Amino acid sequence: MDFFHYQNGELYCEETRIADLAAQYGTPLYVYSKRTLLHHLTQIQQAFAAVDPVLCYSVKANSNLGILKVMNAAGSSFDVVSGGELYRVKQAGADTSKVVFAGVGKTDEEIAFALDNHVLMFNVESEAELDAIARVAASKGVVGPVALRLNPDIDAKTHAKTTTGKKGNKFGMDIERAEQLAEKVLADPRLSLRGIHMHLGSPILTTEPYAAAVVKAAEVVARFRARGHDTRWINLGGGFGINYRQQEAKPASAYADVIVPTVQQAGCRLALEPGRFIVGNAGVLISQVIFTKREGGKLFVIQDAAMNDLVRPAMYDAFHRIWPVQPRVPAPTNYEAEIPGCEPADVVGPVCESGDYLAKGRWLPPLERGELVCTFSAGAYGMAMASNYNSRPRACEVLVDGNQHTVVRRRETYADLVAHEM
Ligand code: LLP
Repeated sequence: MDFFHYQNGELYCEETRIADLAAQYGTPLYVYSKRTLLHHLTQIQQAFAAVDPVLCYSVKANSNLGILKVMNAAGSSFDVVSGGELYRVKQAGADTSKVVFAGVGKTDEEIAFALDNHVLMFNVESEAELDAIARVAASKGVVGPVALRLNPDIDAKTHAKTTTGKKGNKFGMDIERAEQLAEKVLADPRLSLRGIHMHLGSPILTTEPYAAAVVKAAEVVARFRARGHDTRWINLGGGFGINYRQQEAKPASAYADVIVPTVQQAGCRLALEPGRFIVGNAGVLISQVIFTKREGGKLFVIQDAAMNDLVRPAMYDAFHRIWPVQPRVPAPTNYEAEIPGCEPADVVGPVCESGDYLAKGRWLPPLERGELVCTFSAGAYGMAMASNYNSRPRACEVLVDGNQHTVVRRRETYADLVAHEM
């Protein structure tokens, strides 16, 4: 559930008219709903309450400080994958002792920064990284807290570019290597083994991969403990799917049902790293039609949001619902079927690439120059992956709270485009 809805023939975010925001701030414009963010976080908190998890909102999904501050105030912690993300969560006022630090390529500088900020644990992906953490920790006279990232070889059936828990991906290590490294940690006073980590892919629309993963995790924890490790944490990463099309996603409670009992039996603390589940449907991208044209037997709707604003369709063939902000035809429940009064169109942006589209062959009502269009489910991996390609200033971002709103990132200017160049 989210708080974007049509009322009196136009789109609202909570009690705020989207058309008013577009008039005030221009387009392309990202609009976020605070109520939706909190609703999704609460769903996970409640579903997993029995094991009192540490929820580490995955900053990579949407790293805007305005969003991080909402998450922090609501009791979420954070999953970071770079020094830059750690800097952001500090700016948001987070308690860094609950932050987990992931990623296959942490530099010495990033490791030092994380140790200085007493992060809860590093999700370690290789022996070389373990050595680096030990070395940097020793130079500071502290102990490096680590979780070994397992590659459980589970197929989570996600897009080839977002699957991470299968053999052959660059992430994690197999169980045999994790056991070897665990021995190494035991013998090394510069390190302590806090737990094990997994992340299976994203988005995952079924619970089975998690059910299989948590069992593997519990087995490994039991073996580590038998060898004398004080292994307390199981971190199952992120990846919970969301409704991009219709109601295809599972509620948080479905994931909890398969995860919680095994974590309880293992006597472990649970960490999770949800990103998309929290922010994906808490954000939309508003754009404006510049031109329409018919060519090659097709209708093209050319609007002012492009692959530099939202790269997911171009990069992962991702599906995002698209509908006018003030539609002449009521919004359908199924955006993939033929819609009466509508015509299939390619919704494209101004960037000079054929891959620059938000949708292909999408049923849409007639649209005219200046009309506002909404691309839904754009809160996760939208602005976070935006670029200045074609020297396009990045969009403005607005956070709505009821009938109030705050600009959480102003629109970039042409001067911003060259500000770092000498
Ligand atoms: N933890 C780790 C270790 C991850 O690699 C990721 C995402 C997450 C947590 C958060 O996953 P989430 O809960 O948001 O699904 N750009 C792609 C998604 C890439 C995901 C990368 N890792 C997209 O737009 O679909």
